[in-house]
This record gives sequence, C-alpha cells and structure tokens, in this order.
Amino acid sequence: MTDGTDSSDHWPRHAHRWALVGPPLRPCPADVAHVERAVAGWAAAAGRGPRALLLGVTPELATMRWPAGTELRAVDRSAAMIAEVFPATGTPPGATAVQGEWCALPCADAAFDVAVGDGAPANLSFPADYARFAGELARVLAPGGQLVLRLFATQELRETLDDVARELRAGRIGSFHALKWRIAMALYPDERDVPVVEIAAAFDAMAPDRAWLSRLTAWTPATIATIDNYRGSALAYSFPKLASVEDAFAAHFAIARVLAADYELGERCPTVVWTRR
Ligand SMILES: C[S@@+](CC[C@H](N)C(=O)[O-])C[C@H]1O[C@@H](n2cnc3c(N)ncnc32)[C@H](O)[C@@H]1O
Repeated sequence: MTDGTDSSDHWPRHAHRWALVGPPLRPCPADVAHVERAVAGWAAAAGRGPRALLLGVTPELATMRWPAGTELRAVDRSAAMIAEVFPATGTPPGATAVQGEWCALPCADAAFDVAVGDGAPANLSFPADYARFAGELARVLAPGGQLVLRLFATQELRETLDDVARELRAGRIGSFHALKWRIAMALYPDERDVPVVEIAAAFDAMAPDRAWLSRLTAWTPATIATIDNYRGSALAYSFPKLASVEDAFAAHFAIARVLAADYELGERCPTVVWTRR
C-alpha cells in the first residue's frame, strides 16, 4: 500500500468514480442499520453519545443516525477521499476528517468509545497488519469500547475463476461489483493479498468483449469501467475468513455479535461487533 500521494495509489483516483461504485463494495441500508443499532446500544448503556472513530470516510456511515451528543472523527490516509467523499452535511455537529494511517492513528490513547468502518480491514495486509490494526484500535478505544466492522470475508468453500466465469455466462451474477468481488476472492485461495491489477487481468480474460457483457447483464459501460481503476494501482486486498480475523484480533477484542447481510454476496459481508478486552 502507498502513502496516498503516489500516482499508483488507488483511492485518490477512485474518489472521482465513487458514485458508480455500489454494493457489496459500499454498504446497504441494512448494513448501516446494523452499525446504528450497535452504536445506539453502546450509547444507551453509557447514557451519553459516544466519541466515535470512523475508519475511512464512508458517507453512509458518516451520515448514519448517530446518538445525540456524538463526537465523530474520521481518519483516512487519502486527502482526495477526504476532500471528495467525506460529506459536508448530515454528519454529527463538529464532525471532522483527518489524514492518517489506521495502524498509526493520529489520536490519543483512549480517545474513543466506538470505532466503525466499512470493509476497512480488506485494505490491510493479512495477517501482519491486522494484528497491528487491532493493537492500535485497542490503544485508542477506552475500556468497554466497541468496534463495529463490515468485513469482506471468504468462506470455507471457495469458488474458482472457472466457477465465476460459468456463473457469469449463465446470467447468475446480479451486479458488476459482485463480479469484481467474486473474481477477487477466487484469486485469494491461500490467504495471500490480491493485487487489484490481478483482479483486472482476470476480468479481462473472463470478459474481453465489454459490449457482449453489457448486453448480457445490462451493466452500463461506465459501471464496467470502474474495473479500470485497478490498472496500475499498487493496492492489494485481503479477504481472510471471519475465523482468521477473529484470531488476528483476539489479543485485544472479543466478538459480541455477527450480523448477516441478505443482499447478493451478503454471506461474505458480515458486520461484526467486537468489544475491547
Ligand atoms: C473504508 S475503505 C473501503 C471502502 C468502503 N467499502 C466504503 O464504501 O467506504 C476505503 C478507504 O480507506 C482508506 N484507507 C485504506 N487503507 C488505509 C489505511 N491503512 N489507513 C488509513 N486509510 C486507509 C482509503 O483511502 C479509502 O478512502
């Protein structure tokens, strides 16, 4: 991964096409409702609004129904994502977004009561960064703090690229973003980070004729072109199984709840609530 200023960095370029990206890469209302309920539960128990950390600038989370009195700070390494994607309105009063690394947060010890993120760990290298990330979150969360993350997690039974291609030709893949994720996870058989350039290359081999793909699926050329963000990008994704994430976080966090999603590929996108040990 890069420092957010390199021309090969993924997210600054992605910021411009953000509106074309959809579920499962972005959260659905049901995912947001899971986070809202978890945070509301924390606030009800504490009798006050939380000091909340948002990992990234996901607009759906920044503008969700936060409890009264919430103090929200978002941390994202990309100045472009902060400038183009963090919402100017609809966030809790006084909300801020600052540039920083999740594994070295620019925040004081015990500065937050809750931390939330959408798909954030997939951006980290597994397993080393996951352990550092958990340690850093444990540092900035106060005792009794809560961590709520939607994960992108591969399952025990994995598809091959041939399986995905067969499903595509049979018209059984509903959204282009689900196709990207199925290709990405098929490329992740050994819990090895997947460079996004490999996802683009596998897509090219699977569907070299975009006009055919568009006719088959009714996906617009602009939506299909979101795969082109992956070309020349230095980003690699990780998709460890939920049990592997649980192990990587176990020194600092215990799972309280796993909340399912019911959209296409939702079984690979659970929202997990952890409590700080
Ligand atoms: C939250 S993630 C995943 C996208 C997510 N599904 C969504 O819809 O918001 C994307 C964001 O994470 C940021 N990011 C990735 N790795 C990071 C890191 N190590 N530290 C801080 N920010 C990071 C990127 O700059 C980008 O804005």
